[in-house]
Amino acid sequence: MKVKDTNCMAVLVNKENWLHKDYQAKDLVTVKVNFVSDVLEMSQKMRKEAAGALEKLFSAAKRKKMLLYAVSGYRSYERQRELFKQNKKKDGEAANRYSARAGQSEHQTGLAMDVTCEAVDFELCEDFAGTKEYEWLRENAHRFGFVIRYPREKEEVTGYRFEPWHLRYVGKKIAKELYENELTLEEYGNK
Ligand code: DAL
Ligand code: ZN
Repeated sequence: MKVKDTNCMAVLVNKENWLHKDYQAKDLVTVKVNFVSDVLEMSQKMRKEAAGALEKLFSAAKRKKMLLYAVSGYRSYERQRELFKQNKKKDGEAANRYSARAGQSEHQTGLAMDVTCEAVDFELCEDFAGTKEYEWLRENAHRFGFVIRYPREKEEVTGYRFEPWHLRYVGKKIAKELYENELTLEEYGNK
């Protein structure tokens, strides 16, 4: 199955709905937030609307003394293919519980950003869920149009393990609805 409206901010990309290898995310811009070191130039980008929203989210967090750092935003089909290949070499098929195959990653849409903080040494790990920065994100990300896309105990629905660090932009209206009803994008689409 192919994703239908790839321009829609709420586009569903997962193991059943994948992007064509030639799909190119539109209007990618460099996000002006703090990044951890050594982030590829490509991965500092998001689609314009999402980038603006992430900048607002980071500023609001900072005002509450929550210092967030961005790690990985846009990834091309080729880049995702490389990453999955490396992960598969390490963990075999189990890699697909935390790493998407090329064409199946939200990072290819330019609408996702992985974030972290100093308390977990700037890593992308489950311990991030124990930080005050995560707590703040959990309660506030929707106000900026983002959702924590792979929640705890929804692996059966999303196809991925809990990823407290993976933020996905869907726009404020849908983010609020997902947040208030504790729904994933899959469940929203199937309503
Ligand atoms: N870690 C998420 C599932 C990705 O690879 O897109
Ligand atoms: Zn991610």
